[in-house]
Amino acid sequence: MVKGSTVHPIRRDDERGIFAVHRSVYTDPEIQAREQERIFDRCWLYAAHVSELKAPGDFIARKIANRRIFLVRGKDGAVRAFFNACTHKGAMICRENKGSAKLFSCPYHAWTFDTSGTLMGVPDSESFGPNFEREEFNLNPVPRCDISHGFIFVSFASDGESLPEHLGPAAECLSLLEDNGSEGMQVADGSFKYSIAANWKLLLENSNDAYHVPATHRRYLDYLKEQGGGWANPGEGPRTTVTPLGKGHCVFRLHDQTSKMTGNWGGSMPESLRPGMEARRAALEARHGKERADLMCDTFAILQIFPNLLILESVSTIIRQFFPNGVGSLDVNSWALMPSDLDEDDRAYALRSVAAFWGPGGFGSADDVDILESCQMAFTNREAEWSLVSRGMLADRPPRFDDDLAAREFWKRWGEIVAPEPDSKSNLVPFAARGA
Ligand code: FES
Ligand SMILES: [Fe+2]
Repeated sequence: MVKGSTVHPIRRDDERGIFAVHRSVYTDPEIQAREQERIFDRCWLYAAHVSELKAPGDFIARKIANRRIFLVRGKDGAVRAFFNACTHKGAMICRENKGSAKLFSCPYHAWTFDTSGTLMGVPDSESFGPNFEREEFNLNPVPRCDISHGFIFVSFASDGESLPEHLGPAAECLSLLEDNGSEGMQVADGSFKYSIAANWKLLLENSNDAYHVPATHRRYLDYLKEQGGGWANPGEGPRTTVTPLGKGHCVFRLHDQTSKMTGNWGGSMPESLRPGMEARRAALEARHGKERADLMCDTFAILQIFPNLLILESVSTIIRQFFPNGVGSLDVNSWALMPSDLDEDDRAYALRSVAAFWGPGGFGSADDVDILESCQMAFTNREAEWSLVSRGMLADRPPRFDDDLAAREFWKRWGEIVAPEPDSKSNLVPFAARGA
């Protein structure tokens, strides 16, 4: 590249089948600032699952897009999200990550709020003078909070598209998940939290990249083999489908995985669990029909919801969300998700399966962390400028599980928001090429 020239961060040539991303997107603080402003300060972001807030008074505190918020189910049954900052002098009023409360009392000067955010009590309130109006100091709500099939999302922008508009057909994928349980789904207690010294978008790409598995997760595949299970190369055997859902969302599916329910994939499911699993399958088929039951029971699916939510279904399912923490670092939070009607043994098996691969000490995550950190380290090689996301682009066949299609869907949406085309009506200047 010519020194001093400018470059658009996404290079795309549909005729030649090239889709490339300029590596400054992973290292440039200016890009990070735009992402914060245009994506994380505006988009709908996953915040929690309704099963974490079952009864009135149940609350959870979360860090979402650099804000400290908490969500609480009110006496009226509604879920509300508030900024976790006292309206008096700003102390965090919700100091525990989760729990149940009728009132929230600020630890600083004991102002007290109810579950709908109303300021109920101010010690010595007359000292604030005759014009002090208590109702002016109710908790600040997060501008928008909405629920789709049990998944609670928030947005820090008071205007913009609604959650159904944002999700589009992705909502149907959430509905399919919800139907797995006769009474919906349940997030297991606890979560996997860890940080990676890598840009957040690297984990997005890694999560929807099926073709790194044989190389990166070789140790896991060897382990599966020893256990009598295995990984079917998506290019060879099972039917796969990849469905772009618009707006950067995508779902890809590996079908006919009868091992999903029975656990042969991991090779470790106790035989004693099989009858219960088969009964569950029959019940799902009776409730939802064969086609839907096949999708629930025999299909490994990865659902990508822009910008930072992935629901990874294999033998067990996790919700994975991550936020940037500086340009070269990200924080991950993952929760195990399972049907709420599983019995105790099935639940324990599901949790073990989740931990074995997705947990911070599991086979999958440790290898991925190492690889992603190595990418980030190598981005100091500024002369090596482009990453390729072209796999499957010119293939003379339907899109496949092991293509880069989901990543391209993400990048297209990211580009529309963060870096519109240089010749678009926007007068944004394309990013300067770094170090060329
Ligand atoms: S900061 Fe909360 S009561 Fe003073
Ligand atoms: Fe991986």
